[in-house]
Amino acid sequence: DKVILAYSGGLDTSCILKWLLDKKYDVICYMANIGQDENFGEAREKALKIGASKVVVDDVREQFAKEYVWPAVQAGLLYESRYLLGTSLARPCISVGLIKCAKENKAKYISHGATGKGNDQVRFELSCYSLWPEVKIIAPWRLEEFTTRFQGRQDLLKYAAQNGIPVSVTPKAPWSMDANLMHISYESGILENPDNEPPSDLYLMTIDPKSAPNKSVKIQIRFQNGLPVSVETGNASYDNPLDILTFLNKVGGEHGVGRIDIVENRFLGLKSRGVYETPGGFILHTAHTDIEQFCMDKEVYRVKQTLRDRLSDYVYNGFWFSPEGQYVRNCIALAEESVTGVVKLEMFKGNVFVLGRSSPVSLYNQDLVSMDKHSDFSPGDATGFINIHAIRLKEYNRFQKQNV
Ligand code: ARG
Ligand code: SIN
Repeated sequence: DKVILAYSGGLDTSCILKWLLDKKYDVICYMANIGQDENFGEAREKALKIGASKVVVDDVREQFAKEYVWPAVQAGLLYESRYLLGTSLARPCISVGLIKCAKENKAKYISHGATGKGNDQVRFELSCYSLWPEVKIIAPWRLEEFTTRFQGRQDLLKYAAQNGIPVSVTPKAPWSMDANLMHISYESGILENPDNEPPSDLYLMTIDPKSAPNKSVKIQIRFQNGLPVSVETGNASYDNPLDILTFLNKVGGEHGVGRIDIVENRFLGLKSRGVYETPGGFILHTAHTDIEQFCMDKEVYRVKQTLRDRLSDYVYNGFWFSPEGQYVRNCIALAEESVTGVVKLEMFKGNVFVLGRSSPVSLYNQDLVSMDKHSDFSPGDATGFINIHAIRLKEYNRFQKQNV
């Protein structure tokens, strides 16, 4: 039987590859280029040497930026008020590639190296089942046969040595990483103690804000229907999602933007500590938040924020391809039809400052709000407005004296 293995080139998935071959599967390795810094040529050689019948390297960067990151920016997705969902968004995108690869190669099985305690297993598998209900999944890290044989890294290294699986000579960082066009996440290893400070050499996308240039950089981001459509700096402009994100990662990285260190709730119920750097994503999120507030109706905004929080959970939990995910994405896109305009920003030592915004369709009315004129607004109306609201508070005070 044919298996499509989501292959990373690392120790875990290389051992899984060999183990599947031992079990007489015909294994095709699938590698998504989702913007991680990876030597695909080397990984291909390695997989073929171990015995993969074929290695497919699939460049999904454009799809990832356009079909996953952009809708996330548009919706303002944020998990538990802080995490921009870089890994969560990548999983459904990679799953599409896995399923396409399976169908093209007439394979019934998909295998992956995600652990039994994490979110990624859930995301990969729910996405795959949703895209192709008949697919069969092999998750070695949940199979007793595999886990009794491989307790951890030492067993994998021994197995690799016995089976001529090349192991990288550069010592592995003492934490686990997941990188793509949007972010790098770091967890496990020495980060498992939530009180341990991440070492300064951990970060790969961003410079330490303390060492960032003393000179700031200014950019402008244009939004249409809540989606970023162009970025301008003094001398350059970018107008497609992949170029925009790549450029913002570069400037954001140079100015130390978008680092967080959090403890989050995994879908399975465990708390886990994660360190993230999301330079471009953080800039886009900051700009979008600003232009949205400038353009969107107050009550629509409130409903939309509730939906945003729901969708953030759906995406984190692996329900990108689900009826509720699709429904809420469409609702939010409708609300975002009013969000069009330009935000001016300045990056400086880890910060993103909003300097101004403009829009042809904003609900902001300078005449109406101005302290310098009355315009259509009768100040006397505010007296009635306050009096009516005060009725309830005065009644409450009759029974429940407010102490001052
Ligand atoms: N905790 C983050 C999430 O659930 C990052 C997971 C990182 N995944 C990994 N295989 N290292 O989205
Ligand atoms: C893993 O367990 O494979 C990585 C962490 C996660 O999926 O949450």
